[in-house]
Amino acid sequence: MEEFVRGMPKIELHAHLNGSLTTNMLEELAETKFGLGSPECEFYKEKIADLRNFSSKNLSECFKIFKISHELITNLDLLKKATLLVIQKFHLDNTVYLEIRTTPKRCKEFTKLQYLETIIDSIKESQSTYPEITVKLLPSFDRARGILDAEETLEVISQLIGKFPNTIVGLDISGDPSAGCFKDYKPLLIKAKLLGLRLALHCAEIDGIEDETREMIEFGMDRMGHGTFIKDENLDLLKKNDICVECCLTSNIKCGTVKNYDDHHFNEMFFQHKIPVVICTDDCGVFDTDLSKEILYAVDTFGLDKFDLFNLCKLGIKYSFTSDETKAIITNRVSAYFQNCKF
Ligand code: IMP
Ligand code: ZN
Repeated sequence: MEEFVRGMPKIELHAHLNGSLTTNMLEELAETKFGLGSPECEFYKEKIADLRNFSSKNLSECFKIFKISHELITNLDLLKKATLLVIQKFHLDNTVYLEIRTTPKRCKEFTKLQYLETIIDSIKESQSTYPEITVKLLPSFDRARGILDAEETLEVISQLIGKFPNTIVGLDISGDPSAGCFKDYKPLLIKAKLLGLRLALHCAEIDGIEDETREMIEFGMDRMGHGTFIKDENLDLLKKNDICVECCLTSNIKCGTVKNYDDHHFNEMFFQHKIPVVICTDDCGVFDTDLSKEILYAVDTFGLDKFDLFNLCKLGIKYSFTSDETKAIITNRVSAYFQNCKF
């Protein structure tokens, strides 16, 4: 089965750019930035070493791990290098369709506009280097950065979307779920929808926020990140509103919101409630995983067979934020792969 899953054309719908950088990639960025053997490079290498085998019992703690890549990527060349490395990693794992999400940032060397333009540029470049993988971009609002930052981000998106409507296809809300209130973001989300963006929102990542979860589902979204603590009426509402749930198994375990693979809500949602789900990586770099491994964890834990895998691929294509034409091309590739195997 491992060989089958590795070779399978895969669809990744929930991958944060900075979280997808592996420790080796972070080291490469530190070497490029500071020079091999320099004291600064060694300082970061020690910090990066601490990331290996990361796990936490506290979700808020987890957000500290992104500080390293945020500190390292301080110019556009490093950002481009990071983006290309991440796309290459997914391509080497036979991902044929990838939606990357990232929070636009600014620093001394670049503006948010340049941040997004550089990623779009890198995506374009990757399309000629790796024509087998289609890549789209979802800018993120980071709840911890607040509403003014999100407003600024939306303004930048509105400047770019006319030029790149086939690359910027959606919007994500992520970051520490205990920061801020969803309702503050509603006016911005309404504007984002008017710009033609689809919504993929982190939701119900922690327990005890049922009211906010209901408010988010009622507001509407195309896909939901995690949905770990969805229960009772919210589960019915989710089903009724045809929202696809992005399940990130290892991420939830390493961040301490799910105890172990056996307990993961993917099982109930997919098999029992027949909710559309996709298996995703979230932060494959810092959590030391990849899409094939995530699918194999689900295979080993829940006994998925090839028929289930085919269904999951079809759900990924259906709920992706791409054109019908691209969906048809990916469907053909996936179908051809499954036609050649025995069920
Ligand atoms: P970036 O947006 O490319 O910098 O990717 C890292 C960012 O993604 C983090 O700073 C968080 O805002 C967000 N992120 C990554 N993983 C999670 C998660 O599991 N829940 C919520 N937000 C996340
Ligand atoms: Zn996420």
